[in-house]
This record gives sequence, C-alpha cells and structure tokens, in this order.
Amino acid sequence: MPNATVSNVLDRVLVLEMVRVTEAAAIACSTLIGHGDEKAADAAAVDAMRTALNELYMDGTVVIGEGERDEAPMLFIGEKVGSAIGKGPKIDIALDPLEGTTICATGGPNSLAVLAVAAEGDLLNAPDVYMEKIAVGPGYPAGIIDLDKSPTENVKAVAAAKGVDPKLIVACVLNRPRHEKLIAELRALGCGVMLIGDGDVAGVIATTNPDTTVDIYMGSGGAPEGVLAAAALRCVGGQFKGRLLFRNDDERARAAKWGVTDLDKQYDLTELAKGDCIFAATGVTDGSLLEGVKRKKGMMTTESVVMRASSGTVRWVKGEHRI
Ligand code: FBP
Repeated sequence: MPNATVSNVLDRVLVLEMVRVTEAAAIACSTLIGHGDEKAADAAAVDAMRTALNELYMDGTVVIGEGERDEAPMLFIGEKVGSAIGKGPKIDIALDPLEGTTICATGGPNSLAVLAVAAEGDLLNAPDVYMEKIAVGPGYPAGIIDLDKSPTENVKAVAAAKGVDPKLIVACVLNRPRHEKLIAELRALGCGVMLIGDGDVAGVIATTNPDTTVDIYMGSGGAPEGVLAAAALRCVGGQFKGRLLFRNDDERARAAKWGVTDLDKQYDLTELAKGDCIFAATGVTDGSLLEGVKRKKGMMTTESVVMRASSGTVRWVKGEHRI
C-alpha cells in the first residue's frame, strides 16, 4: 500500500487493524488477571501491543505511551512503530496497553487495552501529569460543562438540560483522597456518586452509555487517559473538558518540553483529539463497556470496540482466538 494517504489508511485499513492490536495486548495480560503483579501484567500487554503495532504498514509515532524514553523501555513517547518507517503514512498513536493495571492485578472491573490513532499532529502530546476532567455523553447543549464552574453549577446545568432534579444525577468519580471535597459537595447536592477504584477512560465513556446510569464524569486522573477518553468521545459524541494539573516545576518543565505554552488552558475535546481519529479498546476484565477476556475450551474470547470520528461508526467485535 505504498501510495496510501493518511486519510484513506485511517478509513480503510487501520480501523480494523487497531482491534488486532488491542486484542493482542488484552490476551497477553489476561493470564495475569488477579495475580497481584501489576508490573508483569503491564509488561505482557506492552510487549504484545508493540509487536502487533510493528506489523502494521505505517510510519507510526507514539505520542502518548508508557512514559518518557528514560523511564519506559518500550512504547515510550517518541518511539517509532510500524513496518514502514520513513515511507508509510505518518500516524500518531496514543496508547495504554493496560489501562487499569491495579484492576487487572486484583481482578476488578473495567481494565482495558486501549489506543487512539490520528494523523500526525492531531493528538495532544499530553505530558504524564494529572488532568482535571469533566465529561457528559451526547445530547446536551454545547458548552454545558465547564471546569471554571463549580461541581454544583455543572450538575445543576446537566439536571436542568435533562429535565430532572439534581438528586437524580449520577456522577462518576475516582475514589481518591484528593476528591474528598468534590465528593462531599456532590453528596450535599443529593446526587448519586459512583466511586471507581481505577480506570477513568471507562469512567468517562460510561457517560455515553445509558445502561450505566452515569450522567457526568468529574475529577482528576492521568492526562494521557484524558486524551484517550477524549478521542473516544469524539467518535461517539459527548462533551469533555480537560485542564492539566501540575504538582511541581519538574512537571511544568515537562509540559513545556511537549509544547504546552498555556499551563492553565481548559482543553476542549477537539483540541485533545483533532481531525479524524480512531479509538479502539478490548476488555481485559469485564466492565461497563466491554466483556473481559475469557478462557474457554481450546480458545480465548475477546470483546472489542473500534470507532472512527469522521463517520461516527462504532463496531463491536467479538473475537475467538485458538490457544
Ligand atoms: P494505570 O493503568 O496506569 O494504573 O492507570 C489507572 C488509573 O486509574 C487511570 O485510569 C487514571 O487516570 C489514573 O490511574 C489516576 O491516577 P492515580 O491512581 O494516581 O489517582
């Protein structure tokens, strides 16, 4: 496919190829579900995802990965992947081979193998710092959520648009001591707070799925996971705002290194993941989005989703893999 342009590669080939990549990562770490070894599970997923990415005809660059070169042996930020480096279409990749390493190690719900791809320059090169996040699913008026507003104001706005009392709104929040004030404010308002132990990519995507009852996602988590979640919402609809949070000068310097000039900026969905993008995920453990990897007689089964922003197509893919 030597003459392929970026856009037709995103359209016609990479969409389904991406599922193979997330499937490979999920299958590889699934044998370590519940084994209490986060590092081994992550390493298995990383290794398998890298091998699968290197089989694809593309000139890929990891823009969100396992960390910076000196802290991650593989799939580090800036690493080139693909079988056509220097000649294939230039693709930027945001990935998390095992989103929810602790979940996988402890056998909890909602760990995923995820990635998002876009044309070169279309994904925010987010440093590995925290990001303040707020998200809602599709169907709300534009601009309904805003990080400059209080949690109370945001919940009231969502409740009014939905035509319900704020007490009937459910907010998903990572269960962390840093969220004590947020949780107290939400509970004082009377709304439901669904606390999750880990995995805010699934938490954000839950706002788009009526079966989960989650109306709004709030709180801080990893910035890389914020870009991945934003890419998913670009494809299925919904709104997302993110603002990088810095704990020290070292983190500010790292952001500057990745080209972030306005440290207080509130990013919109389309600034985190621009243009056409593809989001793919495979369940590692069972969750609200996907079933986890299952071992059956002589085979393993997987469930994946792959979606594309430009068409809004969402494909659910069930895989049977012979052992
Ligand atoms: P890992 O897969 O890297 O362990 O991330 C899990 C996660 O829960 C993310 O979903 C979330 O964005 C981040 O950790 C939150 O960070 P922290 O655990 O430091 O609050």
